[in-house]
Amino acid sequence: MRILLAGSKGQVGSALIPVLAPLGDVSAFDRQGLDLADSNSIRAVIQREKPGVIVNAAAYTAVDRAETERDASFAVNATAVRVMAEEAKRLDALLIHFSTDYVFDGEKRTPYVESDVPAPLSVYGRSKLEGERAIAASGCRHFIFRTSWVYGPSGRNFVHAILAAATSKPELRVVDDQRGAPTSSGAIAGAVAQVLSIPELSNKPGGIYHLSAAGETTWHGFATAILQAKGLKTPVAAIGSDEYPVAARRPKNSLLDNAKIGATFGIALPDWRQSLAAVLAVIH
Ligand SMILES: NC(=O)c1ccc[n+]([C@@H]2O[C@H](COP(=O)([O-])OP(=O)(O)OC[C@H]3O[C@@H](n4cnc5c(N)ncnc54)[C@H](OP(=O)(O)O)[C@@H]3O)[C@@H](O)[C@H]2O)c1
Repeated sequence: MRILLAGSKGQVGSALIPVLAPLGDVSAFDRQGLDLADSNSIRAVIQREKPGVIVNAAAYTAVDRAETERDASFAVNATAVRVMAEEAKRLDALLIHFSTDYVFDGEKRTPYVESDVPAPLSVYGRSKLEGERAIAASGCRHFIFRTSWVYGPSGRNFVHAILAAATSKPELRVVDDQRGAPTSSGAIAGAVAQVLSIPELSNKPGGIYHLSAAGETTWHGFATAILQAKGLKTPVAAIGSDEYPVAARRPKNSLLDNAKIGATFGIALPDWRQSLAAVLAVIH
């Protein structure tokens, strides 16, 4: 199996490299090797590599900056995804792509299922939704894994931000009115490898699957758990989203219902606390 991985230096991309390697012949591209802002280069690289599986872990993920960089966000999260999907269709390759809880407005009280109607609150969410729709419209074989609150041992993420702030500030103030499931890049990558290892994968229904850690918390709960695990005593005040102004609105409820991926693939990610412990064990 020839696997083309885009976004190899991102959180999910870098976690995918070691788990994809045993499954086939992996060509991994970072932004320098494959710039998603350049449609011609996407087409050229895919036509040259002729992969059987394309895994797109690249994305424009600067949620707040996207509010003023709409074109850049849509170029990577929508246009590039459409081009990849068209090339996948041409090659009859499988496209694996990632999307986000931010396609929803967060007004639902219970976890979101795949058939819930998206209503993104932000430019980033709209750009990711357009990417999802472009994949479906292309007719290529695909799995889109919507995940949430991604963190890992490396990269810019909440865990690193909290650890840095806890050692430089007397007190932290963290939002307590957004619910979600922090999901580790390693858990996501493991699930993708599990899916690709299924012998009769072509018999499984393509489409969107929710893939997030079990359990739930708030950003405040997540921050508190990080500090507790590291033995840091910096106080963490719980604040409302209105006390922490940012450019992009976030959903109040980011919870994803993972029943479909469980029923289809037998995949159930561990509780977020378990994965957090594993990631913190390798962050010093
Ligand atoms: N992070 C989250 O909390 C979160 C939540 C839900 C869903 N997701 C989704 O999960 C997937 C993986 O996210 P992640 O957290 O691993 O993101 P990430 O760490 O920000 O990695 C994204 C990667 O995409 C690359 N990239 C950006 N623009 C590019 C371009 N024009 N050409 C080529 N590569 C480009 C980045 O390269 P540079 O480093 O050079 O910029 C980076 O390596 C994405 O689809 C994201 O939308 C993420």
